[in-house]
Amino acid sequence: MTVGTPGSEIELETSRLLLRPWRVAEAPVQHELWTERDPRVPPHRRIDADGHPTVAELEDAIRTQPVWSTGLLAVERKTSRDVIGYCGLVDSGRGPAAEPELAFELLRRVWRQGYATEAATAVLDWARASGYERLWATVWDWNTASRRVLAKVGFTETDRKEVDALHGTTLFNTRRL
Ligand SMILES: CC(C)(COP(=O)(O)OP(=O)(O)OC[C@H]1O[C@@H](n2cnc3c(N)ncnc32)[C@H](O)[C@@H]1OP(=O)(O)O)[C@@H](O)C(=O)NCCC(=O)NCCS
Repeated sequence: MTVGTPGSEIELETSRLLLRPWRVAEAPVQHELWTERDPRVPPHRRIDADGHPTVAELEDAIRTQPVWSTGLLAVERKTSRDVIGYCGLVDSGRGPAAEPELAFELLRRVWRQGYATEAATAVLDWARASGYERLWATVWDWNTASRRVLAKVGFTETDRKEVDALHGTTLFNTRRL
């Protein structure tokens, strides 16, 4: 594992995957993730009626978002060299300060092959090496696959929940590193 320092590029390696910063040319993969999102996901996380975000807007975001001690890394398969989604850490502001959230999302065609679990395990090692002592993860109550991944990598549910009558209940999970 290469831990990020200013000027160096982060790269996490597992048996099947490489996790590293997004490249501008991979914006179409991000766009595909946006188009595939479950209709229960809130509108600000889905392509709007005017087609935003566009591929060009996602390209701009990749150009301007540096990855250092947190960030969402592109997940690349080592054998086929294709990018299948992301996994990483976000400073969402929803947990205590200095305790980021684990996040992951993969293209539907690769689901149920253990990739999210494998990627998340590498990100936990990255977080530990970066000096974090605890992580959070928020998940909709209806998101069985994500809840299962979080349980597999050692997260436990806390008492904290946020109820949204429209989209479901957000469950707060945590894991000590
Ligand atoms: C969550 C997500 C990343 C999981 O990716 P994945 O590579 O399929 O995950 P894994 O294969 O590592 O593990 C999935 C687990 O959930 C289980 N699972 C998947 N779908 C399920 C379902 N509908 N019902 C019950 N279990 C399910 C799988 O059987 C597996 O558990 P197991 O190893 O005990 O059999 C993927 O579903 C996704 O991108 N979802 C949309 C984005 C998202 O929800 N992100 C998380 C936001 S909190």
